[in-house]
Amino acid sequence: MIKQFTHNLPLFNADEHDAVNGHNILSLNKHVLLGEIQSLKSLASIWDIRTAVAAIKRRIEDANDEIHTHMGETFVVKFHRDHILSDLEQISESLTVERAKYYIDRLIKSINEEKIGKDNDINLNRWKEYEDIYTDSLWVIDRRDSSGVHSADYWGNFIPQIPYQMMRRYTKRGDWVLDTFSGSGTTLIEGQRLGRNCIGIEIQKRMVDYSRKLIMSEPNPHNVVIDIVEGDSTLINYPSLLERYGIKSVQLIIMHPPYFDIIKFSESKRDLSNARSVEEFLEMLGLVVENSSKVLDKNRYLILVIGDKYAKGEWIPLGFYAMNEVLKRGFSLKSIVVKNFEDTTAKRQQKELWRYRALAGGFYVFKHEYIFIFERM
Ligand SMILES: C[S@@+](CC[C@H](N)C(=O)[O-])C[C@H]1O[C@@H](n2cnc3c(N)ncnc32)[C@H](O)[C@@H]1O
Repeated sequence: MIKQFTHNLPLFNADEHDAVNGHNILSLNKHVLLGEIQSLKSLASIWDIRTAVAAIKRRIEDANDEIHTHMGETFVVKFHRDHILSDLEQISESLTVERAKYYIDRLIKSINEEKIGKDNDINLNRWKEYEDIYTDSLWVIDRRDSSGVHSADYWGNFIPQIPYQMMRRYTKRGDWVLDTFSGSGTTLIEGQRLGRNCIGIEIQKRMVDYSRKLIMSEPNPHNVVIDIVEGDSTLINYPSLLERYGIKSVQLIIMHPPYFDIIKFSESKRDLSNARSVEEFLEMLGLVVENSSKVLDKNRYLILVIGDKYAKGEWIPLGFYAMNEVLKRGFSLKSIVVKNFEDTTAKRQQKELWRYRALAGGFYVFKHEYIFIFERM
């Protein structure tokens, strides 16, 4: 089970992981802490190192110690309490002085240097602190994030954890994100919180109005641009759309199209859920990929969230068909995440019926969907 984090805490300073772990962050005096840790390197025995580490840990635990006093941001180093203590523990637990010194050097580096990811704001020298970021390909999430204006009211919306994870992993603060099927605006709400500029495209006017209202009712702490355009993402001229915002490209595309006709979203013929066949659905999706990917920076990412379909005694692997549509258009596959499917209220009522049908028909009831991660070549 994936650990749940609420990320509706106010962001402070430049470290976005503070948003998640803010209540456990220690602001330590960089000079005092570095002095203490560097002095460990002069010790010749593992016993001396252990005694000295225990003393540092006591200072950290004592809120009145001068290790907690600092003047201004340049003299402060922020640490998650559990992580600094566990890094020190790792030094103490070393069996040899050489090993202990290796961990001491690593800790010094994590205080002095940042190693920021190419496409995100993750400081790899402090990678242990990003506990909220998933790196496994199986996501079993039992609770959707319902903080702030997020709600499950729009049938067919995705859980906020999906755009949250994707933006943390594949964008930097200030980057531009395009969501070609924005629906109730889940991506845009997350983008606003995380300081990513977002443009959503949605064919239904009522959903454009609905999501605009939601987004405007939350604060915009990073002063980013969040906009929703009413339109058909198969036809939109993406370069001229971006001109409106004074940009030429985006750094992430998120696509959460209808899963063919499983949910009929509108009466419009241009709505992908009204495609007349799987082939037509894939053709329309292909057009969205083809046209929108022209404005995606090279080596940045396109995320496709989609599930499969069951009809007339046959499993239709819509997810893999859709994956192929993207792969045909200049992308390489970076990962496939399988995510559990929440029971919607409607499904719950029909649970027994589906179980009976599955037993009788020799198939399995859907409990998963896919998150495909592609890199633009
Ligand atoms: C699966 S929902 C996306 C839900 C969204 N991720 C959310 O969390 O609310 C798919 C959306 O695509 C929209 N849509 C369908 N065809 C479209 C098209 N050609 N252009 C733009 N939007 C379209 C539907 O109206 C629907 O809101």
